Amino acid sequence: MKGPFQAVPVTDKVYWVGAVDWDIRDFHGYATSRGTTYNAYLVMADKPTLIDTVKAPFADEMLARIRSVCDPKSIRYVVSNHSEMDHSGALPQALALIQPEKVLASAMGVKALQAHFHWDVPVQAVKDGETLDLGGERLTFMETRMVHWPDSMFSYLQGAGVLFSNDGFGMHLASARRFDDETPERFVEAAKYYANILLPFSDIVLALLDKVAKSGLPLKLIAPDHGPVWRREPERIVSLWAEWARQKPRNKAVVVFDTMWGSTDKLGRAAAEGLVQAGVETLVMPLRGNHRSDVATELLEAGAILVGSPTINKQLFPTVADLLSYLKGLRRKNLTGAAFGSYGWGGESIKLAQDALTEMGVATVEPVKCQYVPDAAALDAAHALGQKVAAKLKEALR
Ligand code: FEO
Repeated sequence: MKGPFQAVPVTDKVYWVGAVDWDIRDFHGYATSRGTTYNAYLVMADKPTLIDTVKAPFADEMLARIRSVCDPKSIRYVVSNHSEMDHSGALPQALALIQPEKVLASAMGVKALQAHFHWDVPVQAVKDGETLDLGGERLTFMETRMVHWPDSMFSYLQGAGVLFSNDGFGMHLASARRFDDETPERFVEAAKYYANILLPFSDIVLALLDKVAKSGLPLKLIAPDHGPVWRREPERIVSLWAEWARQKPRNKAVVVFDTMWGSTDKLGRAAAEGLVQAGVETLVMPLRGNHRSDVATELLEAGAILVGSPTINKQLFPTVADLLSYLKGLRRKNLTGAAFGSYGWGGESIKLAQDALTEMGVATVEPVKCQYVPDAAALDAAHALGQKVAAKLKEALR
């Protein structure tokens, strides 16, 4: 059927029927400054099969793209690889129209969908390694718990070698382009996505990548639910994920702080000079101009973090507390670092920041604090802090 919303062929049997969200700027705390896509895929076998859906407001758009290929009512199977609502939000509307023979999800997915929609739709649980005959095509399921939620799974189209990887190998990037070779921003955005979504599950990611490699399944195409389809370099994104998951430290430091009257800013700049002069690639990220998710992204390929906070009412500065809470959840391993900051009377924030770093597993050196405005001695101490962190980082890199 003709209309503005057309499906995009991915292979001769697989079509992209998703939606582009040009507007979204926050994805559970992650700044999606370039929007995102919700990718759904239609497999045109004898039993047409829909893999995943889109966020609820885009249901009509997805159904229109499906109509450009087939009557939605001819779809026989609907597979839900993940219950998070960016992929399942349009399911109720889609199922009401399609009336498929089967809706399939992982065992955890069956429970998660029920907990989201409180419906009476029967969803069939599929096992890890189970294969579904679509009539002329075969779809094999692979449990991928915690990539990104406990219910997550991949689906693999035999023959064509297409891995429908849901959140795996995705990125938040709104674009009219559907493929990796058309997308120059692909690695930058994929790194940001990994750093902000998958990093806490890196050990599981490594085990999963090992399992995929041992399966011997040829990955001709990787079709994630966000961002472009990897058709030119599917192996490259797999190897980048392995590298990011290993979290090896690099010779790079991120100096991040907020400031009340400019004193913590001065300390941060002096510490950064100490790092630079010790030969460490250094990035200064004042929180007035940098979002928490960009700090997390820079840390993905770093080895050190210095965190500065003034004290306010015996606490961390609010933006620094926000950052530390976020980073603690992401559980980046193998970092070196320290806290610093200025204060008026109590100086509690410096200890709070240092304690937070220790709790995150950062190998720290003694923090530096300064009352009110730093004098030359305080700036020297901050400079020395940078050099001490640099020296500790060099040890970690040996
Ligand atoms: Fe794209 Fe975990 O949802």
